[in-house]
Amino acid sequence: TKSLPVIAVDGPAAAGKGTLAKCLADALCLPYLDTGLLYRAVGRLMLDGDLDPATQSGEQIAAALRPDDLKRTDLRTPDVDRAASLVAGDQAVRQALVHTQRAFAAERGGVLDGRDIGTVIFPDADVKLYITASVRTRAERRYMQTGGSVDAPDREARISEVEAALTERDRADTSRSAAPLRMAADAVKIETDTLIAEQVLAEAIRIVKSVLDAKAF
Ligand code: CDP
Ligand code: CDP
Repeated sequence: TKSLPVIAVDGPAAAGKGTLAKCLADALCLPYLDTGLLYRAVGRLMLDGDLDPATQSGEQIAAALRPDDLKRTDLRTPDVDRAASLVAGDQAVRQALVHTQRAFAAERGGVLDGRDIGTVIFPDADVKLYITASVRTRAERRYMQTGGSVDAPDREARISEVEAALTERDRADTSRSAAPLRMAADAVKIETDTLIAEQVLAEAIRIVKSVLDAKAF
């Protein structure tokens, strides 16, 4: 009999990967892992001066990460966004996190969201979804997610700032040599510009069912 499925959810920042992956995992009774948190935690340790990727090996960095580091409430600030993207370009850091991610889904399957789940971490994932939207849509979403209001007088200026930061992170994530963000050849893309989260979930469930059915799960 086949083991439980592994579902990869990749795409650029603020596309709605986390929202989808979490709901999908709940719907399918699979464990969920936000892999961005691993890079955010490493970035946080570096900002705090607790870690120096320039002098510490990937193994040391992985050993330094404790479960509590992933539960910190200060992992979603703009400086951690940048630090995470920076450390994510380091091959030794990425290598150190491969085992953690593979081990997570080894026994009970799982839904993992990130940038390289379908390309590097689980190239044989049972289902690969690529979630995307225009940078403008993603900037509006991140603006609202971080406490922005629809009628703030500086709304446009703040969305422009978020858009610039997302554009820079997209550039770094897609152009780095270590596991760059790209859609796997066998991934199914969902363009979410005109979809609310519930519609993305419904579409994803439809895709997952059809792919798993075809594989006789
Ligand atoms: O939530 P958001 O999409 O803004 O970011 P995230 O998924 O938490 O990821 C933060 C950063 O970690 C990204 O900009 C990537 O540089 C890096 N990352 C990665 O390289 N590979 C992953 N599987 C997940 C995140
Ligand atoms: O994980 P990722 O950075 O890709 O995005 P997220 O944190 O899941 O979603 C970013 C924000 O967009 C959240 O506030 C979601 O509620 C929102 N969202 C949305 O408005 N419409 C969607 N179709 C998906 C997410």
